[in-house]
Amino acid sequence: MEVQEIERLIKISKERPLMPETYIPWHQEPEADDIFLPEMLTSLHGLEIYNTLTATQKLELGRHELVQVIASYAWGECLFCLFMTRHILTLPLDDVEHRFLLRELIEEFRHQEMFGQTINKLGGKPIKQTGLHKFLGHFSNKYLPADYLFMGSVSVELVTDVYGDYARKSPHIYPVLKKMFDLHSIEEARHIIFTKSLLKTYAAKAGYIKRTLYSYVILFNILFVRTMYVKKEIFERIGLENPDQVFKVAAKNFKQKFSEKCLDDIIEFVDSWRGFNKATRWAWRRVLGAKV
Ligand SMILES: [Fe+2]
Ligand SMILES: [Fe+2]
Repeated sequence: MEVQEIERLIKISKERPLMPETYIPWHQEPEADDIFLPEMLTSLHGLEIYNTLTATQKLELGRHELVQVIASYAWGECLFCLFMTRHILTLPLDDVEHRFLLRELIEEFRHQEMFGQTINKLGGKPIKQTGLHKFLGHFSNKYLPADYLFMGSVSVELVTDVYGDYARKSPHIYPVLKKMFDLHSIEEARHIIFTKSLLKTYAAKAGYIKRTLYSYVILFNILFVRTMYVKKEIFERIGLENPDQVFKVAAKNFKQKFSEKCLDDIIEFVDSWRGFNKATRWAWRRVLGAKV
């Protein structure tokens, strides 16, 4: 990436910071017809069982699942911050990449604080990650080389951004959430520009095996994110009978929905450096239901 272009991104970050404290109308309470998550993104929408829910149950389903989305975002960004703080130590302080990553860290910390405040505002109770999620998160953060972690992080950013875009563009979304997603989308756009171009240089040098590995790292990161949203406890909370059974159909339903609505950008990215090949394509189809 051109040094000038990175300087431009740093300049915007400094001169036009979006402060969650003032950008988000925290004082505003939800109105009677406000929603928390577009219906079609909830895990049960599209299934027969969804039509049997009361209006309150539908609203609550959206609230609890949205809280999961935000909590997962925050957790993922926190892990990425851990990595970035270690990575900048390897770069000289005056290096333009070092300076950009400092701006990114500042913004990501603000985001995490904003996510936490939003969850409080919604009276949310995030369900903790599974042991496997925790293990994989910490393991990859500790042992994977920088290029792989950047691959993982850009995939999470691209996928979750789509999610935020659906939410902020949907009518009747609670204004606090709309502004939260607006802010996030604007600042993440800069991170994505930087990360994508960084990765182009990595990918340009990569041979078949490395591109295959990158592709798998991305695939697992997406799977990782996707499986943090749909939770059995939520079906218990909204008073459904047979939460176990509901969970099974909901997970399947959500997998299909996720593959249809959230994967376009990441597929385009992976395709741009030929990350789909004989060794990876089948896994993308099978694990993520991706049309590649
Ligand atoms: Fe962020
Ligand atoms: Fe970011």
